[in-house]
Amino acid sequence: MPEDPEAWWSEGVLYQIYPRSYADSNGDGVGDLPGITQRLDHLSWLGVKGIWLDPITVSPNADWGYDVSDFCDVDPALGTLEDLDALVSEAAKRDLRVILDLVPNHTSIEHPWFIEARASRSNPKRDWYVWADPSEDGGPPNNWASSFGGPAWTLDETTGQYFLHNFLSEQPDLNWWNPEVRDEFDRILAFWFDRGVAGFRIDVVHMVIKDAQLRDNPPVEDGDHWFIKMRGQRQFYNSCRPEVHDVIKRWRKIADSYTPKRVLIGETHVFDTEMLASFYGDDDELNLGFNFLMIHAPLSAEALGKIIEDTDAAIPPGSAPVWTGGNHDNYRFPSRWAEGDADRARAALVMLLTLRGSVFLYYGDEIGMPDTEVPLEQILDPVGIRMYPVFGRDPERTPMQWSADPGFGFTEPGVEPWLPFGDAASFNVADQVGDADSFLTLTRDLIALRDAESDLRSGAFTRIAAPVGILAYRRGDGFLIAASLDEGAGGVISGVNGEVAASARRFRDGEQIDGDLTLEPGDALIVRLALSRQPL
Ligand code: NOJ
Repeated sequence: MPEDPEAWWSEGVLYQIYPRSYADSNGDGVGDLPGITQRLDHLSWLGVKGIWLDPITVSPNADWGYDVSDFCDVDPALGTLEDLDALVSEAAKRDLRVILDLVPNHTSIEHPWFIEARASRSNPKRDWYVWADPSEDGGPPNNWASSFGGPAWTLDETTGQYFLHNFLSEQPDLNWWNPEVRDEFDRILAFWFDRGVAGFRIDVVHMVIKDAQLRDNPPVEDGDHWFIKMRGQRQFYNSCRPEVHDVIKRWRKIADSYTPKRVLIGETHVFDTEMLASFYGDDDELNLGFNFLMIHAPLSAEALGKIIEDTDAAIPPGSAPVWTGGNHDNYRFPSRWAEGDADRARAALVMLLTLRGSVFLYYGDEIGMPDTEVPLEQILDPVGIRMYPVFGRDPERTPMQWSADPGFGFTEPGVEPWLPFGDAASFNVADQVGDADSFLTLTRDLIALRDAESDLRSGAFTRIAAPVGILAYRRGDGFLIAASLDEGAGGVISGVNGEVAASARRFRDGEQIDGDLTLEPGDALIVRLALSRQPL
């Protein structure tokens, strides 16, 4: 059980929306806030508890909303503040909470603060950003690399100093050592909380504080995670600094001062579970921290089983882990994990929706939406352009597929969407909604089962030995879940007595299990255990 009865986020299913791609209410090819409001009935029917919207604040869109030029207004392409108010109030009528994205690490280069800051070395806003003199050879002040590749520093010719940007050069990093920056963000948090926003997902929360001495980052080592190796250096001095916890504690005090309490969810893009757990503090920092180890692992019982066990053990008692199969920065799980194999995608969904903690679905996950291939000339993601054809983020950002009609229910017929449509004829809500065997029906049924069964919501996670390629675990005393995750994995788990409460491929629903639980490749079963005959 969550220790805090107000912690509605700790065991339910939440849903991430990429606003430009959800529903276009005004026929301009771009999704918007009124479009989301019009689709709230879908979300309440699905059974999710709340939605997180990727940034809706004003942005010149060098990084599609993650370069903010006004933190307290809605981007005109997405709507108005009044549209947000309407969304929050319509959502509340359906018992849905609205969580926004907060981007405190950096601003847009077009933000008035930065325009002032770069005007002169003596400008009062100068110290709101991270500036440093060139190194002796005239190059960048240290070796920090941008997370998007290339140096993390750009020389400002006018004032002769470099400014720091851990992402694009259009995204200068704020200086969180400056108390004025902290005060300003206190006001920004309150601005949105006062409007009834239920919380924030905080962009690269672990990065906001940088080493005060700007020391060089160390090189990668043999045992490092593949993602760190890909970056070419350990982000030791520009990430996860001890002082970041003070900033998060400060935000938590603000969030907790509201009734009901607001939730803080971190984009904790770190690679060990102890570090992840540290961001929960002593229940005085983040309420939830995304677990990227899962996203960056293959769909393998061995790899995911270890990550889930380690995370479950590391997250402090009373706090909840977060599970997600994908988001706007990573390929969709039916493509990335299951490589188009529908059964494996279903098995992955069963796993996600039966883990302890909070589960985030990414829009389209409920219909098993795969990635959309976006041709080079249509790529809009700056990272996709830089890294073509190796990596890009447009494939998972294409419009939601509501129906097979012209415009696919996303926009009006004949309107060109901002990113190309995917295979909406094969994957859409309208076709799946009344189909008992569809991915959508499975998603909804799994959410309903989780809602109805306290063991599936909050029961302890206990891993169980299983044949190779099968991940098996108990939730509380009442349920055993066994999922064939690796390609072709099957086998028998002995000593199981009960009834199949839900199965990935549906035809096993209701099956009685009397001793041997047999899994074929692609099976994922949730067994309601007969408690009196329960040896496991
Ligand atoms: C993480 C966000 O999820 C990503 O989309 C963005 O590009 C970077 N942070 C920079 O804000």
